[in-house]
Amino acid sequence: MSGISAIRVELSGRSYDVMVGQGLIAQVASLAEEALRKPTVPVVADARAWEHHGAALSAGLRAADKEIALYTVEPGEGSKSWSSLESLTDWMLDQGVERGDQVIAFGGGVVGDLTGFACSILKRGCGFIQIPTTLLAQVDSSVGGKTAINTSRGKNLIGAFHQPSLVLADTDTLASLPVREMQAGFAEVLKYGILGDAEFFLWCTNRSHDILAHQPLVLKQAIAQSVQAKARIVAEDERELSGRRALLNLGHTFGHALEAQTGFGDQLLHGEAVALGMVLAARYSARRGELEKQDAQSVAEAIGRTGLRSQIGELGLSCTGAQLVEHMRHDKKMDAGTLPFLLLRSIGDAYVARDVDLADVAAFLDEQLRAPVTA
Ligand code: GLY
Repeated sequence: MSGISAIRVELSGRSYDVMVGQGLIAQVASLAEEALRKPTVPVVADARAWEHHGAALSAGLRAADKEIALYTVEPGEGSKSWSSLESLTDWMLDQGVERGDQVIAFGGGVVGDLTGFACSILKRGCGFIQIPTTLLAQVDSSVGGKTAINTSRGKNLIGAFHQPSLVLADTDTLASLPVREMQAGFAEVLKYGILGDAEFFLWCTNRSHDILAHQPLVLKQAIAQSVQAKARIVAEDERELSGRRALLNLGHTFGHALEAQTGFGDQLLHGEAVALGMVLAARYSARRGELEKQDAQSVAEAIGRTGLRSQIGELGLSCTGAQLVEHMRHDKKMDAGTLPFLLLRSIGDAYVARDVDLADVAAFLDEQLRAPVTA
């Protein structure tokens, strides 16, 4: 047993803890004792996560004489839709969920985003507890209160800031995660190092094998340190107003264009797109003369070492840089005609550049698309 880390997200009246460790699901009743005030607890679960870990949650709640009212959600982005939101909110109303109640979101980013958004609007807002079961959700989406659904006009365009009242990141749930999803989540772990902590970047780089092999102490430390980094930034800029929180979007603008080009499907998972996006942000920073070429290379190598793709040539896209930039024009970070880009001055020092010329980005992407893929 490797102990539990508790990280506080400081948001005055909306502060909460993120607990990271092994076996947390089994202890849910004591960890969330005050929040779970009724004998029946509403749980919204990803169907696959429920298959693997539902029994542990049921047992944990049964130990405190609580029953579960279960609503399952099909895995995949398709569940972040208006129709899923309508069905879920109807179900919550049928369950008699009240403002003071807590709904448990059990699964990855899709379930967290959908449930969080439903809870932000149910009776003008009820509580929710995040139990993230993917690495990506544990280090990023379950913390910080961004909730959303997708529409035909794009991803995450309808949503709200709604903070959970507790997050339980049980590292045991990651054992059932496909390697590819571990790698995709690991990209978000590396992100915290690349954007703000060179030492953590180095630590992650040296321990990528142990993290991906689920070495419990190392995995817990990687998650806890990522959550700490995120908690600090969210506490400073909850609603992404000052530019601080925008740093968390490192790799997302380039990555989003690649996701859009590949149809937001299985060809490129979100974390994989962010990984490639961070390499592109680093290489573009070097092209602007702001980052040492060697540092851009180190970012690419760290990502490549985890088994993630680090060159866009590996995607085999038959598009132009201009087509990728076209996707960026629909980015929700677009601000009065300019698109802020997250760039690097060094590893551990990201900043928001507001002077980026999209034609120059298109030319850069053309070069990257044509660059020969190296082994
Ligand atoms: N994933 C970026 C953020 O939470 O702000």
